[in-house]
Amino acid sequence: MGYSRLATRRISASSDERNRRRIQKSLMRGNTVMEEKHCVVAIDGPAGVGKSTVSRAVASRLGFCYVDTGAIYRAISLKAHRLGIPPDADEQLAALVNDTTVAFALPTDGEPPGAAAAAAGQRVLLDGTDVTEEIRDPEINRVVSVYSANRAVRRRLVALQRRMGQSGDVVMEGRDIGTAVFPDAELKFFLDAASEVRSRRRLDELLSKGVKTCFEETRRDLEARDKTDRSRAESPLARAADAEFIDTSELGVAEVVDRIVSRIRARRGDPVQS
Ligand code: DC
Repeated sequence: MGYSRLATRRISASSDERNRRRIQKSLMRGNTVMEEKHCVVAIDGPAGVGKSTVSRAVASRLGFCYVDTGAIYRAISLKAHRLGIPPDADEQLAALVNDTTVAFALPTDGEPPGAAAAAAGQRVLLDGTDVTEEIRDPEINRVVSVYSANRAVRRRLVALQRRMGQSGDVVMEGRDIGTAVFPDAELKFFLDAASEVRSRRRLDELLSKGVKTCFEETRRDLEARDKTDRSRAESPLARAADAEFIDTSELGVAEVVDRIVSRIRARRGDPVQS
């Protein structure tokens, strides 16, 4: 299967260098380099809260790019885990991140899709290989938080995510987008729900993918991940003081999406529409 180049958001350690060269070239031609201001919508929250579904839908409705930062941490964790690199091996992990390409891409079957299909159909490529399914394996669920807590990994990935957010209007979801990646984001939301509800949602998702597990195991894994994400030293999972808090325990996806989209439209002064 091929991938649409246009839709590919490639992140690599060299993009800073490319950007610098672009600006340099432009300056040499005597152009004034204008830094364009893009809208960043930060959506944070713990596992199983419905962030991905909501963020994807919000991006589709607004025609914004959608960046799932958890998928980037997952892809890096998958590679490190496969290579047997321990989560505390700072130098090896730093080298691995510098040497790895994670890209979001769209399959190129059929016509180029619109924003809705684009967000829904995004694939995750690790060094050019599609790992969209592998990064959701229960084994990766268990190790991802530990690799994500590594300072060397975080520093590099936070920097990469900042660069990604500068390329256009974007909905970026994660754990630390409103606090660390884009503390100045125009709009911030923090989604949460009771652990019982989140575990049930995660269980349904796993069962629908054919994973053999049960409620207790799912809840244990989810709570362990939460604890690591909230207690790590570097950019822990936390609600930014200026983020709007939404408890999704009793809300359907459409209600949460409507609320977020209307807030964004109001802030941007866009005409109200459904
Ligand atoms: O959103 P998710 O469940 O796919 O995220 C997987 C893990 O990645 C999460 O448990 C912690 C890490 N993560 C992070 O540390 N910072 C982010 N911005 C996003 C995810």
